[in-house]
Amino acid sequence: MSDSQLYDVLIIGSGGAGLTLALKLADSAKIAVVSKFALTEGSTFYAQGGISAVLDEEDSIDSHIEDTLDAGAGLCDTEIVRLTVSYGKKSIDWLRSQGVMFTEEKSANGEKHLHLNREGGHSHRRIVHATDATGKAVSLSLINRAQQHPNITLLEKHNVVDLVTASKLGRAGNEVLGAYVLDTQNDTVKAMPARIVVLATGGASKVYLYSTNPNVATGDGIALAWRAGCRISNMEFMQFHPTCLYHPNARSFLISEAVRGEGAKLILPDGSSFMQRYDARAELAPRDIVARAIDSEMKKHGIDCVYLDISHKPAEFITEHFPTIYQQCLKFGIDITTQPIPVVPAAHYTCGGIVADSYARTDISGLYAIGEVACTGLHGANRMASNSLLECIVFAERAAQDILKKLPTLSSEKISIPEWDESRVSDSDEEVVVSHNWDELRRFMWDYVGIVRTNKRLSRAMRRLELLKEEIAEYYGHFRVTSDLLELRNLVIVAELIVRCAQQRKESRGLHYTQDYPELDNSQPPQNTVLIPANFEKSVS
Ligand code: FAD
Ligand code: SIN
Repeated sequence: MSDSQLYDVLIIGSGGAGLTLALKLADSAKIAVVSKFALTEGSTFYAQGGISAVLDEEDSIDSHIEDTLDAGAGLCDTEIVRLTVSYGKKSIDWLRSQGVMFTEEKSANGEKHLHLNREGGHSHRRIVHATDATGKAVSLSLINRAQQHPNITLLEKHNVVDLVTASKLGRAGNEVLGAYVLDTQNDTVKAMPARIVVLATGGASKVYLYSTNPNVATGDGIALAWRAGCRISNMEFMQFHPTCLYHPNARSFLISEAVRGEGAKLILPDGSSFMQRYDARAELAPRDIVARAIDSEMKKHGIDCVYLDISHKPAEFITEHFPTIYQQCLKFGIDITTQPIPVVPAAHYTCGGIVADSYARTDISGLYAIGEVACTGLHGANRMASNSLLECIVFAERAAQDILKKLPTLSSEKISIPEWDESRVSDSDEEVVVSHNWDELRRFMWDYVGIVRTNKRLSRAMRRLELLKEEIAEYYGHFRVTSDLLELRNLVIVAELIVRCAQQRKESRGLHYTQDYPELDNSQPPQNTVLIPANFEKSVS
């Protein structure tokens, strides 16, 4: 089945990046935004702490740049950092123009201004936020605006199977032509042609057993781009957030870094604090340092979690600043105004991804990557807190600038792509294989490719991946696609890219820590790029 509409721009993903771009293009182009589940289901909706921007008189662009470079452990691209940080105020102004209500406070003279939080790695207060549910405020405002725009078609429950490119079809050229998309409401795969395709599919943290991310974060965009022939880079830098709520019934609930920004202490079960032993900035050190410190204390003491304590602050302050966290913890019987919160690190953010330039262009003509799925050089070896939502807005703006220039140069002829061929597959008789492989993959990635790595653990992971890849390729070749199968097929590629990048980096830097090479080694390559192997189509597609 083909979508009769030819969209100018097909945007895959309805998070902060995708919807910002849709809104920036919609007055000039016909846009489709597809989203795997509900429009709200993406990391954007769950973002808590906020968006970094230089707004305080005592802060400066140079200071924000310096902090970002420092957190990135020597691998950030300075020009990209400068570009992104310089767009901070403009990005916040644009979000406010779309109806996002950020938290304000009154100055001594009675005038209102935006309240700024502080988070790890930042040397100033520069986090604009909507209490502790910033992502929800951003997401709902952007969805609302997009729903009202006549040029934007929003397609929920549409899971992209693969990109279609000229070279995949054996035609001349290297451009993208559209995508095959599984409509999960009626289980049909349709061909969606488009002049421009944008990957805004978010991260891949669901490759790990424990993650702060919603279920959509299976790295689909990275796998789609990889299969289409794009370079993928820096996948060894998977970020673990230090403080995910530890409770048997709480899945993936984050305790924002802003809680530490307001003075919360990390403590052991005996009440003693430990972060000052690891870094002079203690609880406000960059995330890689704090997560590793927690991991080390948990292993040293054989404990299941550490605790985050903000109970020394007045109860009113806590409930006013962190209403969502307060309520959520209370549901699990933890009153954070009087009790410490049990926390553990969990996979949170994908610093690597599809190699994209300062206009979000990838290696394939007409294919762009924005937001968490991209690797622009902003985050280097470790993303600083609250720089991600900023990146989503900034690179959506940059992509919009380029797309608006490019569209008039493209042919207006209808793009023809073949129908999805299901003639050689049948319905699966063994769906349990998919769920078992999912579990196995996420568990061994957690055990062998987590916060602390070794050569041996990485090789063990690779051996298991080889087997899984074979099984999944066979399964994919024989059975009709389902959402779970598509995600598993993508996850196994992403896992392999993480392991291969980790094996290539023979040093410890930022988020990549290996006991076999515990020191920094500045002779290592700045970018860790993986190119598509020649036998790839045979082995994985
Ligand atoms: P997402 O918001 O994740 O959206 C991805 C979209 O792609 C979804 O619509 C999804 O359905 C769609 N999609 C994926 N695969 C497919 C497919 N195959 N077919 C169709 N659609 C697909 N960052 C900050 O800067 N500040 C914060 O305070 C902050 N807090 C966070 C708190 C939590 C709990 C989490 C998980 C992350 C947080 N982050 C924060 C990180 C930040 O939220 C994300 O990096 C950012 O929102 C990513 O936005 P995105 O638009 O790139 O992707
Ligand atoms: C948080 O609120 O701690 C998350 C911030 C981020 O990931 O940038």
